[in-house]
Amino acid sequence: VTEKIVEIILVSQNSDGSAHLAPFGIRYRDKEVLIAPYKPSITLENLLSGRSATINMTSDVRIFAGAVTGRYEAPVKDYDGVWGLEGASRVQQIELDRVFDDPIRPELYFKLGHQYILDGFDGFNRASHAVLELSILVTRLNRLPIQEVRMQMNQLQIILDKTAGEKELEAWRWLQDAIDHFESTQ
Ligand SMILES: Cc1cc2nc3c(=O)[nH]c(=O)nc-3n(C[C@H](O)[C@H](O)[C@H](O)COP(=O)(O)O)c2cc1C
Repeated sequence: VTEKIVEIILVSQNSDGSAHLAPFGIRYRDKEVLIAPYKPSITLENLLSGRSATINMTSDVRIFAGAVTGRYEAPVKDYDGVWGLEGASRVQQIELDRVFDDPIRPELYFKLGHQYILDGFDGFNRASHAVLELSILVTRLNRLPIQEVRMQMNQLQIILDKTAGEKELEAWRWLQDAIDHFESTQ
């Protein structure tokens, strides 16, 4: 069975009350959502202790690249008691229902709560997808051969060069710096 995975920004709450942003691929199942964070993860800790969070949909790929490089923290606001992205197209509250623990990748099921629809769909953009792909590669630098990362990056660069705007280029540079830095410290 294939299941569509939707790439979103998960906003959870740290123990000090501040917001924590991380990209996750989520699966909708009936009226629930499944999130599977690899251990260790700040998000996982926050979800287990706080039990509520928001799923945030945005086409601003700087938020994805920024979260994985630590170069940019998007503005957040309070959505009736839960942190969410200020500029998102949609923000949906989720409530932890049950957990299937696992030493590598536990599965967390959430009930869907209120959804704030803030802005409409603003179109597909190939460079955005290229940035998303490079963001994932950056989170896997420890597990993938660097030549593999460089090869995929070169392919994605072609798409970026054809279709990027300023935000996509900025996000790309952060990711590029992170890869260069990783490689130079090996
Ligand atoms: C588009 C995208 C999707 C991701 N999906 C997942 C996921 O489903 N599970 C996961 O553990 N990490 C995923 N990651 C990586 C996490 O965002 C990253 O490891 C992050 O550091 C989470 O750790 P934290 O909660 O400690 O901040 C994804 C990254 C990107 C860029």
